[in-house]
Amino acid sequence: MLITNIKGLVGLHPKDKLVLRGSELSNLPVLENAWLLLEDGLIRDFGKMDAFPSSIAYLPSYNAGGRYVFPSWCDSHTHIVFAASREEEFAMKIQGKTYEEIAAAGGGILNSANKLQKASEEELFESAAIRLKQMILQGTGAVEIKSGYGLTTESEIKMLRVIKRLKDQFPIPIKATFLAAHAFPAEFKNDHQGYIALITSEMLPLIAKENLADYIDVFCEKGFFSVEETNQILKAGAKYGLKPKIHTNQLSVSGAIEVAVENNAISVDHLEESNEETINTLRNADTIVTLLPSCSFYLGIPFADAKSFIKADLPVALATDYNPGSTPSGNMNFVVSIGCIKMKMLPEQAINAATLNGAAAMEISGNYGSIAVGKKANLFITKPMPSIAYLPYSFGESMVDKVILNGEFYNG
Ligand code: NIG
Ligand code: FE
Repeated sequence: MLITNIKGLVGLHPKDKLVLRGSELSNLPVLENAWLLLEDGLIRDFGKMDAFPSSIAYLPSYNAGGRYVFPSWCDSHTHIVFAASREEEFAMKIQGKTYEEIAAAGGGILNSANKLQKASEEELFESAAIRLKQMILQGTGAVEIKSGYGLTTESEIKMLRVIKRLKDQFPIPIKATFLAAHAFPAEFKNDHQGYIALITSEMLPLIAKENLADYIDVFCEKGFFSVEETNQILKAGAKYGLKPKIHTNQLSVSGAIEVAVENNAISVDHLEESNEETINTLRNADTIVTLLPSCSFYLGIPFADAKSFIKADLPVALATDYNPGSTPSGNMNFVVSIGCIKMKMLPEQAINAATLNGAAAMEISGNYGSIAVGKKANLFITKPMPSIAYLPYSFGESMVDKVILNGEFYNG
């Protein structure tokens, strides 16, 4: 496929640029008035329209006149396999109940687990596939999906098998994360070590045997998993080759960042709460800081301090956190908008964080997340827009017009 008259080809980082730290996030290379050649699912070549090579002029082409081409969004944190929405909690939130209070009243993660345990693998696959298709049509071209609403061996494996089927049937890269340590099931409320033993001695060996997960995650938070418990679970995961991507500092600052770095975490996610120590611990690590502004928006909790993380030279990524409890939305365009509006990221920073650094948080940035010769052709073409900043500026509206996956138009 040949795309001509592109107003701007966005995100032209060199192929060997695998992650952007600190001030590098402000650099979003763009080629104006460009053409782009895709071949065998890959980006083959690109250049300026005024130096259009006659050797390719005969190829059938798509005229993108006035529109931009972006690398697909890379959404590195989602929980899109779930049995039912939880809008009954929506009114409770509006009336002032906190996330912890709703969980304590039988809502929250345990509510989702109850429903998921009763759902069939088929039902879960069907509903997750609908969500994923919708996300792709909104510009997402790579995604990470977590388990964590099973909380029994049978149901955690059921969730991971659903993710495996999504991997097999969708034309985008998908990473699977094992999150049995999302909440303590009621029967283990007073027996934390009993549940941790179930995770480490029963679930992990089975998951490794079927090769069902790429990463391990723990929800480290007051009322959920402690820092010590988090360390214990991450160490057990490492024995099976699972690297950590953890939920932490969502509601309070904990020592989990230190534990994550010590266990070579790929990413630490949320960080709505942070302090100097959080930043200093991350300064010399490769761990990516994945921020989830639509979760803050929905829960009404503080927005993460993206500016301080960037100032401290950290690699910041943006993701949706799509889940039925804290973020019922998988729209990366909105994430990029409120990354700018509420976290004061510049459009260039937010776009880089949602593309190349999102890919890095899934360890696929060698092939996804920017436009470079030899990388996978997962892209979107925008509607006509006056400038790149117009995309986050026009919040709530999708500027994504056409989606291209593996070099071909995707229509869902
Ligand atoms: O990332 N914080 C923990 N997990 C999810 C929410 C899960 C839920 O409420 O169902 C999150 O926000
Ligand atoms: Fe999450």
